Amino acid sequence: MADTGHSVVDDYFTLVDDSCVAVLPHVLRIAAELKIADHLPASSDSLASVVDADADSVHRLLRALASVGLVTESGRTFALTERGQRLRASWASLVNIDSQLAWIRATDTIRSGRSSFDQAHRGEFFSHKDDDLEANRMFLRRMRERASRSYPEFATAVDWTPSSVVMDVGGGDGYLIETVLNHAAHVSGVLFDRPATVDVVEDSGLPARFGERLRCERGDFFEKVAAGADTHLMCSVLHDWTDEQCTRILRHSKEALDPGGRLHIVEMIVPDGDDWHPSKWSDVGMMVLTGGKERTRTEFEVLLAASGYALQSVRAIPNSHFSVITAV
Ligand SMILES: C[S@@+](CC[C@H](N)C(=O)[O-])C[C@H]1O[C@@H](n2cnc3c(N)ncnc32)[C@H](O)[C@@H]1O
Repeated sequence: MADTGHSVVDDYFTLVDDSCVAVLPHVLRIAAELKIADHLPASSDSLASVVDADADSVHRLLRALASVGLVTESGRTFALTERGQRLRASWASLVNIDSQLAWIRATDTIRSGRSSFDQAHRGEFFSHKDDDLEANRMFLRRMRERASRSYPEFATAVDWTPSSVVMDVGGGDGYLIETVLNHAAHVSGVLFDRPATVDVVEDSGLPARFGERLRCERGDFFEKVAAGADTHLMCSVLHDWTDEQCTRILRHSKEALDPGGRLHIVEMIVPDGDDWHPSKWSDVGMMVLTGGKERTRTEFEVLLAASGYALQSVRAIPNSHFSVITAV
């Protein structure tokens, strides 16, 4: 694992001198913003007219993409390669203007210890999305892309036998609760999230597809979590928040949970030592974007104990850097 991180940084310093690394994120974002992948195969001229862009500039952009294997060129016609399909699968993650504005000011975060997102956007990470519905939709799409890439098999790492009603707290666009309902036929689900997000979920038709097995609850987990479930799920929620904020969320979860219920937390666990691990990089991302953090196993244990929970088990999710931390 240590080697992965070392070779990434070696490649970075080599490529940054050739300008590929400096330009690559921007080229990928431009390709995503123009939705180039949706219109291939095509000649650069016809693509330029479809995406309303300058033909010579589109050709040069595609030539750069071909040099990293995302497209191939044959007689000025460009086609998407298998690797290029990732432009589609990661579309919303690539067009992530919100985060990019915060990263431009990220040195402020290191100086002040506070997220730079609110200074870049005049609003904290989630309240900004309550006021900007398009930003909220893009965020939810990014979360779906991320969850389906990062922990698609999470449902297999949980024993759902004792569960009857599973509430996905901060459940986003419903990708995870849908996965649970498909995996465990005896379970019914509740998606609990901010009103702006539940509006998106209801518009998507997801609850209607599951009929009585799935309902939505609008709320704010800093005020309270809705009652009526014996199992709470929290995937990539706690890492958005400080310890003090997490304690409030977890206490509200514990108060709302049926007696004898359980909480499954899906997060990365920061390992000790110098080895490369994505949690150490996501941690810096959380620091800049939301003011949250990634945590070690001991930090989770302390947080849970301060909130009325006791850590019961930690299971690694197959083919993932994430784990399921179960607390009762
Ligand atoms: C990082 S996303 C994770 C989404 C999903 N669980 C996943 O794993 O992809 C955090 C979620 O917490 C929700 N959230 C943020 N603040 C909230 C609040 N005060 N009350 C309820 N949900 C909130 C967001 O709307 C979002 O869906």
